[in-house]
This record gives sequence, structure tokens and C-alpha cells, in this order.
Amino acid sequence: MKGGASSYGYAAKRRWRGLVIGVLGLVILSMLVPLVFLLGLHNGFRSAGYASEQQRPTSESRIGYDKYEVRDAWNESEDVLRNFTNKAKNKTFGRGSKHDSQATEVPPRSITQSPPIRNQNTNVGAAVGLPLYAKDVVDDIGKLCEFKFGSYCHWRQEHREEMKDTMVKKLKDQLFVARAFYPSIAKLPRQDKLSRELKLNIQELERVLSESTTDVDLPPQIAKKLQRMEAAIAKAKLFHVECNNVDKKLRQIYDMTEDEANFHMKQSAFLYQLAVQTMPKSLHCLSMRLTVEYFRSPPNDMKLSMAEKSTDPMLHHYVIFSNNVLASSVVINSTVMHSKESVNQAFHVLTDEQNYFAMKLWFLRNTYKEATVQVLNIESLKLDNHSKATLLHLSLPEEFRVSFHSVDSPLMAPIRTEYMSIFSHSHYLLPKIFQNLNKVVVLDDDVVVQQDLSALWSLDMGGKVNAAVQFCSLRLDQLKKYLGENSYNKNSCAWMSGLNVIDLARWRDLNLTETFQRLAQEMTTREESVEAVALRASLLSFEGLIYAIDGAWILSGLGHDYGIDIEAISKAAILHYNGNMKPWLELGIPKYKHYWKKFLSREDQFLSECNVNS
Ligand SMILES: *[C@@H]1O[C@H](CO)[C@@H](O)[C@H](O)[C@H]1NC(C)=O
Ligand SMILES: *[C@@H]1O[C@H](CO)[C@@H](O)[C@H](O)[C@H]1NC(C)=O
Ligand SMILES: *[C@@H]1O[C@H](CO)[C@@H](O)[C@H](O)[C@H]1NC(C)=O
Ligand SMILES: *[C@@H]1O[C@H](CO)[C@@H](O)[C@H](O)[C@H]1NC(C)=O
Ligand SMILES: *[C@@H]1O[C@H](CO)[C@@H](O)[C@H](O)[C@H]1NC(C)=O
Ligand SMILES: *[C@@H]1O[C@H](CO)[C@@H](O)[C@H](O)[C@H]1NC(C)=O
Repeated sequence: MKGGASSYGYAAKRRWRGLVIGVLGLVILSMLVPLVFLLGLHNGFRSAGYASEQQRPTSESRIGYDKYEVRDAWNESEDVLRNFTNKAKNKTFGRGSKHDSQATEVPPRSITQSPPIRNQNTNVGAAVGLPLYAKDVVDDIGKLCEFKFGSYCHWRQEHREEMKDTMVKKLKDQLFVARAFYPSIAKLPRQDKLSRELKLNIQELERVLSESTTDVDLPPQIAKKLQRMEAAIAKAKLFHVECNNVDKKLRQIYDMTEDEANFHMKQSAFLYQLAVQTMPKSLHCLSMRLTVEYFRSPPNDMKLSMAEKSTDPMLHHYVIFSNNVLASSVVINSTVMHSKESVNQAFHVLTDEQNYFAMKLWFLRNTYKEATVQVLNIESLKLDNHSKATLLHLSLPEEFRVSFHSVDSPLMAPIRTEYMSIFSHSHYLLPKIFQNLNKVVVLDDDVVVQQDLSALWSLDMGGKVNAAVQFCSLRLDQLKKYLGENSYNKNSCAWMSGLNVIDLARWRDLNLTETFQRLAQEMTTREESVEAVALRASLLSFEGLIYAIDGAWILSGLGHDYGIDIEAISKAAILHYNGNMKPWLELGIPKYKHYWKKFLSREDQFLSECNVNS
């Protein structure tokens, strides 16, 4: 697209880039702030945000994709977390004081007996946010982090690796130790010189570290400074200062760092969430431009033949719930590009009032081989009074992060976190919206199709309603605390939205929508979000009605897992970008974006004007 961009485009692009870099910079910066606190600049900051964070222990980090957490075996996991936190602490100290043999003896003993954790939440995060450099704890820590913050942790890990900061970490370690010794030395009579030396070194390192977060930022003579600091610490160690004092001080610093680190961890996770949820400027621009254009010169409404086609039960009907023009365009384009025959395909994009006109114009302007595309505004559908009253708005497929113990070995394998997506309230309107149809394939708007899907239409589902990919690493049994006393087969696997073949006729026969609504109503009595209720009610409504399709159909996780095999990606029939890092976001995992982007039009005028393709 670069060639076609006007000078206006370039300027806009630069501005947009600037914004993105700004936000990312903020995110990264706020991860580094714990360092500032280590350096003793904390007093100014502390009162500002920290208190309010304490008052609201439910952190903002739960907003967005990762907002709903289902935690099984709660009591037990709390226990494990505690043990983990302790272990982590232990290792940190073991590592941090490796260089100074005298100090080592002190901290580990006392830290293992450190007082019980006041607030489990705080400390889980704390363990994560600490300046931990021991490689062997990173895995445990990673698990804890994910338990609390979800895919943010993957993102963070990925971006941290780019930072070269071995020296910075070493300096921080030294500073940490020096600060622990300083008060004891300062109290010693006739040691003014050493005390001054320590103080100067501390101040110097503080200054350096307040300006540098990576090794390249460090001033040239830093090795000398480090040497001087090491020498001062070595001298300090010669004095048999009360071990208790040093230990006490270490723990003070440690606690403070822990709290601050936790606060900043939460804050940066929040910024990450913000970046995840905020519609990119280019997409916003596209939506606005299309809407304006729609009203400037209203297109002729749907051709008659198209209207007929969209209700012909003999065709292959695909349904997409979406409020994202580009995402739904990619789903449709990738489907038709790989289908042997597109003339028998009809796509139905269900959207809301706000995006309806943009979508409408987009799909009138663009053709997808010979396929038909119908855009429906879910808010203006003429459904019967009952469903209209209860289900008015568009709800997209819900995505969840579920953390639980693996039942097989509850102690050893502490916490697993799975990412799943599932039907939302809007999906239960399907039989009513498509009264003439008996079968539809529902695709989430974060998928890319890479093969012909026609085989799905000859699937014999044996009386089941929903053909879905099952997710047997998560069984309903593991969610029992969550699903309550309802009766269900404990061994049933969870299932995913993304690709679902729906037998609408059977759905109607079984009154599944009513079942769902009844369950949802019963569950709403508890204090829970609509989305969390939808998860439980969906799992229970479709209990026993899932036909397991071959897992090879769809490869999930491209929105949260950095480690997916490239070969597996190229072989999969469908790629599912479930997770926070959607391919249309700046935060999207770079190496997977290509599979999505290639289905965008290279020439479209609106895309160029909004810098979508850059
Ligand atoms: C935690 O365990 C206690 C005693 O075993 C039990 O009474 C309580 O209901 C449990 N809490 C949860 C949330 O499961
Ligand atoms: C946690 O550690 C304590 C002893 O330190 C142990 O008794 C307990 O079983 C551990 N809990 C878990 C869940 O590992
Ligand atoms: C902590 O470390 C000490 C020695 O380094 C070890 O004896 C102790 O078992 C460790 N505690 C835990 C909880 O890992
Ligand atoms: C729907 O509501 C309108 C008025 O609110 C009423 O006239 C109509 O009969 C209702 N239709 C059904 C199917 O209940
Ligand atoms: C579905 O509902 C209709 C009327 O509301 C009822 O006659 C029928 O028996 C129900 N079917 C099932 C399977 O519950
Ligand atoms: C569909 O994808 C192809 C590339 O595979 C691209 O050339 C074309 O412009 C796309 N069409 C639309 C309408 O986006």
C-alpha cells in the first residue's frame, strides 16, 4: 500500500505510529518503574496510586479478553500459590546474594519463615513483578503470572527478551545489597569514611539507574563504578554488623519492592489491556469513513437475487458475529479463496447498529468471488417480542481464561491456564434469525480459513446439535465448583467456538434456546457478569449435544501463544486467533499476522486512506 499513500496518509501514519509507540513505551516503561522504587525514589509515588489500588483489590487487569477467570479448586490453589511465592522468594535471595558469602547465610533462613502472606492476590503478583533473575524460577513465576494476568505475561516475556540489561541487573543487585548494609555501617563509630563511601556509591548508582534501563543507556565508565561499589560492599562486610540488622533491612527493602512491583505489574497489565481493547485508530478511521460514505451516497439496496439467495436452504450458509469490518472481510475472503465452489456460499454478518452502515457499504463495494454476503443489524431484527425484550444487543463470542489444577497430580502440576472462547447470548438467536435454514456454519471473526470447508456440509452429526472442536484438557469436572449443582456428565470435555456446525432444526426441536435462557436466568442470581453466566449456561445447554469434529480442522491459540509451530500453522484448515493479541492490533503476535493480512485487499482506497495496510 505504501506506493499509493498520499502525503496526507503519510502524515497520519506517522502520527498514528507515534501514538502506538507512545502507548507501548508507556507499557514498557511502567514495567521498569519498580527499578525506580528500588532506587529510593518511591516516596513521591507511593501515596499516589498505591492506596487506591489497595482499596480495590480486584484489579483492572481483568477487563477485556482476560477479564473472566474461572478458578477451580480455589482453596487448594491458594495453598500452592503460597508455596510458590515462598519458593520464589527463597530463590531470589539465594541468587541475589551469591557474590557475598557473608550475607547469604542470613536471608534464606529467615525468608523461608517469612510471615504468612497477607493478601494472596498481592503476593502472587509480587512474586512476579520482583526483580527475579534466577532462570529456574521463571517457569514457576510464568505460571503464576498467567494465573493472574493471562496472556499479558506471554506478551511481557516476549518483549522482555529484546532488552539487553545484564549489567543493569547486576548494578541493581549491588545497589540492593549496599542499601541493606548502609544503615548498619552508618551507625558504627569511627567508620565515617566507609559510610560516606557507601553512600556516595549508592547515590551514584541510583543516578545512573534512574536514567538507564538497558545496557546501552549506561555511561561508558560503568564498569569502574561497579568495581568501586563492589569494593565498598566488600569492606562493609568485614565489619561484623548485626546480621539481624542487615536481614531486617533487606526484608524491608524486599517488602517495599514487592508491593511496588505488584502495583506496577498491575498497572502495566492494565495498560496492556487498554491497548488490547482500544480499537486501533486505523480501524476506527475505516469504520467512520465507510459510514460517512454510506450516508453521502446511499447505495442501492440489496439486489433481489441476493435476498433470495440469502434464505435459500440449499446453499452453504456461514454466520459471523462481528463488529469489525476488516476481520469479517478476512474471514469471508479467506473462505471463498480456498473453496472449490463459491457460488453456493452465502455469508451472514451479524453486527450492531453502530457498525451496520460501514459493514453494509464495505460488503457492497467488495465482491468475494461469487459468494453472497448479507449484513444484518441484530438490533433491528424483527424477532418475536420475547426474545427482543431479553436479547437486544450484539454480544460477540466470549473469550475466557481458565486456570485450574490438573486433577491427575494436583500437587506437582500446580496451575494450568487454558484459553477458550464460547457462544454468547447472541448465538442463541440463530434459530430465530434464520428460520428458513436447517444448517449453518458459525465462524468467529478472528479466524482465517486456509482450506476448502465443503466437507463440513456432509458431516453426519448423529443427532447432535453443535459440531465443535472439543477441548479435553478441560473437562466439566474441573469446573464443578463453577458449574454448581446442575447435573452433567463429569467427563464431558469443554468445547470451543471458532468453527461450529450447527443443526438448527435439531436445535429448534430441543428448545435449546429456552434451555439456555432458563439456565442463564437461574444463574444470574449470583453476582456475576453476563459473560461469565453465558459461559456456564452454554457449557450446560450443550451438554451431551456436542459432536466432536476432528481437531485438525482448527488450530487455536494464535492470539496468545508465541510458541506455535510454523508447520502446524501452514497445515491447519483454520487458524483461530483466540486470545488478546488479535492480528489486527499492534499488539498482535508479529509472526502470525502475515497469515491474516494477506487476505486484505491491497488496492482498496479506504484501507489506504486509513493506513490499514501499512
Ligand atoms: C474452602 O475450604 C473450606 C473447608 O475445607 C470450605 O468450607 C470452603 O467452602 C472452601 N471454599 C471454597 C471457595 O471452595
Ligand atoms: C505447601 O507447603 C506446606 C509446607 O510448607 C505443605 O504442608 C503443603 O502441603 C503445601 N501445599 C501444597 C498445595 O503444595
Ligand atoms: C530455601 O532455601 C534453603 C537453602 O537454600 C533450603 O534449605 C530450603 O528448603 C528452601 N526452601 C524452600 C521453600 O524451597
Ligand atoms: C408484540 O408486542 C406488540 C405490542 O407491544 C403486540 O401488539 C403484539 O401482538 C406482540 N406480538 C406477539 C407475537 O406477542
Ligand atoms: C419444546 O417446546 C414446545 C412448546 O413450547 C413443547 O411442545 C415441546 O415438547 C418442547 N420440546 C422439548 C424437547 O422439550
Ligand atoms: C482477498 O484476498 C486476496 C489475496 O488472497 C486479495 O488479493 C483480495 O484483494 C482480497 N479481497 C478482498 C475483498 O479483500
